[in-house]
Order: sequence, then C-alpha cells, then structure tokens
Amino acid sequence: MQQAWLDNDVPQCGYCQSGMIMAVTALLKEKPKPTDADIDASLTNICRCGTYQQIRQAIHAAAKA
Ligand code: FES
Repeated sequence: MQQAWLDNDVPQCGYCQSGMIMAVTALLKEKPKPTDADIDASLTNICRCGTYQQIRQAIHAAAKA
C-alpha cells in the first residue's frame, strides 16, 4: 500500500495519510477489489488537501497488484 501511495503521488501535506493508509489496508483485507462507493464508505477521516482522487487511484492500483 505504501508503494502504491508513492507511485500515485497521493500525499500533499501528509497530515491525514497514516489514517488513510490504515483505513485502506483494512478495506482491502475485507474487499480485495473495492468499488469507488466501497472506497468512499471506508474513508473515515478527512483530507483537507483533497487527495481523494489520488487515493482512489492508489487503491485501484494496489488492488490490481
Ligand atoms: S494530505 Fe493534507 S490533509 Fe490529507
């Protein structure tokens, strides 16, 4: 997951990212091929920098790996 984050240039300020990675890791354990709706429902913290599109890209990339 961390490599997918780097490959997709997800972080901006980085403040929210540890929580995002933990939430997404839990999501992929539960749903290995999540939809965008699954992703939206699983992100329980807020990114003030608005990196949601990059987060979705990283999740889909990690799900393919
Ligand atoms: S990267 Fe800045 S709050 Fe998410």
